[in-house]
Parts: sequence; structure tokens; C-alpha cells
Amino acid sequence: MSVAKKEYKRITVKSLVDMKSRGEKISMLTAYDYTMAKIVDGAGIDVILVGDSASNVMAGHETTLPITLDQMIYHASSVVRAIDRSLVVVDLPFGSYQSDPKEALRSAIRIMKESGGHAVKMEGGKEVKDSIKRILNAGIPVMGHLGLTPQSIYKFGTYTVRAKEEEEAKRLKEDALMLEKAGCFAIVLEKIPATLAQEVAESVSIPVIGIGAGSGVDGQVLVLHDMLGMTHEFNPRFLRRYMNLYEDMTNAIGQYVDDVKSEDFPNDEEQY
Ligand code: KIV
Repeated sequence: MSVAKKEYKRITVKSLVDMKSRGEKISMLTAYDYTMAKIVDGAGIDVILVGDSASNVMAGHETTLPITLDQMIYHASSVVRAIDRSLVVVDLPFGSYQSDPKEALRSAIRIMKESGGHAVKMEGGKEVKDSIKRILNAGIPVMGHLGLTPQSIYKFGTYTVRAKEEEEAKRLKEDALMLEKAGCFAIVLEKIPATLAQEVAESVSIPVIGIGAGSGVDGQVLVLHDMLGMTHEFNPRFLRRYMNLYEDMTNAIGQYVDDVKSEDFPNDEEQY
């Protein structure tokens, strides 16, 4: 008997713009591996971000800077194999696009060819404008990222809220307009005042997706391991935890250790 493959309506960059037009909020989460991506996609998420936060979450680095293009491609290809419906956006990692537009394009092409991702995300405003344009000219959709841009953490010095001062807020608004004009299909705004984020979302026709940017934007993104409570040292105000997996997993593993030691596991039904 053959089983008919279930038909899914895939999310595209155009679907996201349409969602903004009809006032439907966009849901986005990170994922870095096949098993998690399968669950996230099956639960109905619109966008999966293969974020360079994999550098922190998967590899245990202090910042996002160490992750390489090869490592991002590995994570992204694992995610792409899992999905039926979600749009997969892949971060261009630090050092793969900052030096010149040709290198940026080469990096973006490698991501699209070798991982099968659907779009790339890049941090920064006018300083990366030429690279964004070159990537877009090759037919690769680009998501922008403004506000707290973790690849510049050593320039900022801290992970505190960005664009509280008028000068930086003005620059951010100009950058958002530039990203829209250049042809980006969406913008992530990270850790900026909610009123500023709303103003930006209202000033552009492309979707603005916030993390720590309030409710006046067109969608929300969180790091999957944070919202599931697998990480527990990171507690910013914007993070809502939907589970406490750190505790649940610790208890389950502790129980397994006890069961093995006490010879409770495996029992008669759990062997051949
Ligand atoms: O890498 C990442 O997870 C991100 C999100 C925080 C937006 O860029």
C-alpha cells in the first residue's frame, strides 16, 4: 500500500510580506539540527532561523564570532532535511561577508548550494549595503538584522539595549529604510526600545521581526533552547520560557542513572 505524501503549503518570503499586509503575526524560532527542526516545523512555525547563536548554544562559545561558514552549512543542511513547511533562513557568520561584496556573495552562494536553505540573514546597516545588493542581485533573499548585532559585541562592549539615544535611533531608522530599499524581504530588530521598533515596523512595508523589541512589530523570534528552558543561565527580560527542560532533563537523566545502578533497568520486558 502506498502512503500519499501529505501536502504542505510552504512558507516563502512572499508569504511573510503577505502576512504583514493582512496583519498576521509571524512566528520564528531558531533550530540547528534535524531532530529539533522536525519538531519545530511540525508544530507550525513560519520561519526557522539557523542562527549563528549555534556558536553559543551548540558549541558553548561565549560569543557568535567563532562559528565558521562550514559549521553553519552543516547545521543548516541538517535543518533543511527536516522541514516540510517552514522558511529556512541561515545566518552568514562573522568573517564571511564583512570584507567585500564578492566574498559576501561567495559565502551566500555556498549556503544556498550546500545547505539548501532558502534565504540568508546579515547583521548591519549601510556598512554592508553593497554586499546585500550583490547577494540580492544573484537572486538570494536577504533578511537584515539591526539593533543589538551580536557579531559586533566587542565594539558595543555589552549586551544591553541598543538605540536608546536619539543619534543611534536615527541611524537605525535610516538603516531600516535602506534595507527595505535595497530589497531585503524582512528585518530582525534585536533588543531596542519597543516604541522605536514599532515606529520602524510602521515605516517599512517589509516584515519586522523582533527579539526584545516589544509587541508593535510584525513577528517574534526567540532562541529555541532558551524558550524551552534548556539553558538556564541566560535570563533577559524579553525571554518567555515555555518549559523548564533543564530541570526535566536533569531529573530524567538522574532517574536513568539510578535505574542502571540499581539494576532496575532493563527489566524483563525490556530485553530479548
Ligand atoms: O543567531 C540568532 O539566534 C539570531 C537571533 C537572536 C535573531 O540572530
